[in-house]
Amino acid sequence: MVSTQLQKARDFEAQYGPHIPAAERPAFHATPTIGWMNDPNGFSIYQGKCHLFYQYHPYSNEWGPMHWGHLTTEDFIHWERLPAALAPDQPCDAAGCFSGGAVELPDGRHLLMYTGVQRERDEDGFLRDVQTQCVAIGDGLNYEKYPLNPVLTKSDLPEGGSAVDFRDPKVWREQDGTYYAVIGNRTPDDSGAILLYQSKDGLKWDYVRTLDACHNQYGKMWECPDFFPLDDRQVLLTSPQDMYPIGLEFHAGNNALCLLGDYDGEEFHRQAVQAVDYGLDFYAPQTLLAPDGRRIMIAWMQNWATAGAKPAHCRWFGQMTLPRELFVQDGRLCQRPVRELDTCQRQQVLHRNIPVSGEVNLPGVQGRVVDMTVTIRPTGSEVYRWFRIHVAKDGTHDTIIRYRPNESTLKIDRTRSGLPHDIVHTRSFLVRPQGGELKLRIILDRFSVEVFVNDGEQAASSVIYTPQQADAITFEAGGQALIDVEKYDLIV
Ligand code: FRU
Repeated sequence: MVSTQLQKARDFEAQYGPHIPAAERPAFHATPTIGWMNDPNGFSIYQGKCHLFYQYHPYSNEWGPMHWGHLTTEDFIHWERLPAALAPDQPCDAAGCFSGGAVELPDGRHLLMYTGVQRERDEDGFLRDVQTQCVAIGDGLNYEKYPLNPVLTKSDLPEGGSAVDFRDPKVWREQDGTYYAVIGNRTPDDSGAILLYQSKDGLKWDYVRTLDACHNQYGKMWECPDFFPLDDRQVLLTSPQDMYPIGLEFHAGNNALCLLGDYDGEEFHRQAVQAVDYGLDFYAPQTLLAPDGRRIMIAWMQNWATAGAKPAHCRWFGQMTLPRELFVQDGRLCQRPVRELDTCQRQQVLHRNIPVSGEVNLPGVQGRVVDMTVTIRPTGSEVYRWFRIHVAKDGTHDTIIRYRPNESTLKIDRTRSGLPHDIVHTRSFLVRPQGGELKLRIILDRFSVEVFVNDGEQAASSVIYTPQQADAITFEAGGQALIDVEKYDLIV
């Protein structure tokens, strides 16, 4: 049965969503049907098709009572819009259906597991959330909330666990038929932990153990966990709030962390911690296991700190990153764009061994929906001081990717990218040139720049709102550098 609240959201999006012209959206990045989008939810394969749900407030371009929006894709590039899947319409989720995951049941139904939020007054009269875990089961279009919701409450928490910060279940099913879910929680030391639960049927859940805890080392509350084997490692992803920077690896505020370790089926032994993405806009990543064995990740291409900075009167806000294939190399999490993107490459432009000093523009290299790989190296013995790639450029606008070889830093600067807001516009991070060369694959899609360093060693994602006519791409060196450029238009 479709509740009044869900029907209202479906009617609203059906009426107003089509008012947004396709050209005012990214060409191949997922966006909300209308209104606000944050975290990816329920990223899963159901009956052979990829489903992506998302935190959704259709009625404005701001965060509000959370619904689940719904998209599907066959290739991670083209997205089909489905009606909203969940609305806050039950006592246990009256203040919102927060983030969660999805899994296909053996009987062919699709189970969504999400955080139900209720609001209550604390002892000082302030409103606070009470968060529990709920499920809804459906057929890929309509979902019925389980009548016995919530399925996990504060009584299922380990000692000292917070019922205020208990959210974002990511669910999966093991070969032996057991369901597992990882859930973010706040511990008595006021920082985050990731809890593991298990279930025989996806409905009745039991606490198993705490997989890892922050102990105030990497931020505060740990949101949006994911947990999966990858190559010879086990990966725990989480998105901490309120983090202090650590060198150039992590920045202040909301980060996305990858904890790499070993898992013997019981204890998770953390061995390494790294950033998942080094750009300005990346949060709450979630993965799925594709039928061909690829582990594919998608994330909200935004940051909470800057999510108030948006084009005036925009009718959609928030987009997802390009889905990325994950792998482990030299003990690090690496990622590259899904290979399906290659089939959209058109009009190849190749330039080899081009010396650059000062600023140059190369024939055939411009555009805003582009896949471009640039390899930068020194010319003979001369060392260049810096190298800049300018994209989305015209007389007023300019988004700059700057490399300093003597510091091994890459910097994204979107100060002139169409956002007249006093927010963080630059971010620098350390890169690892190989044999003096740095290789950058840059994916542009109307409102974003995603940079993949050295075949996926690192990624950096940032949104831009530069007018589309600003489509120049130029290369500039302080000193002399030699570059190769391979550029394609992306036609989707
Ligand atoms: C992360 C998050 C989640 C929560 C959701 C609410 O961005 O704060 O922890 O479930 O957003 O929209």
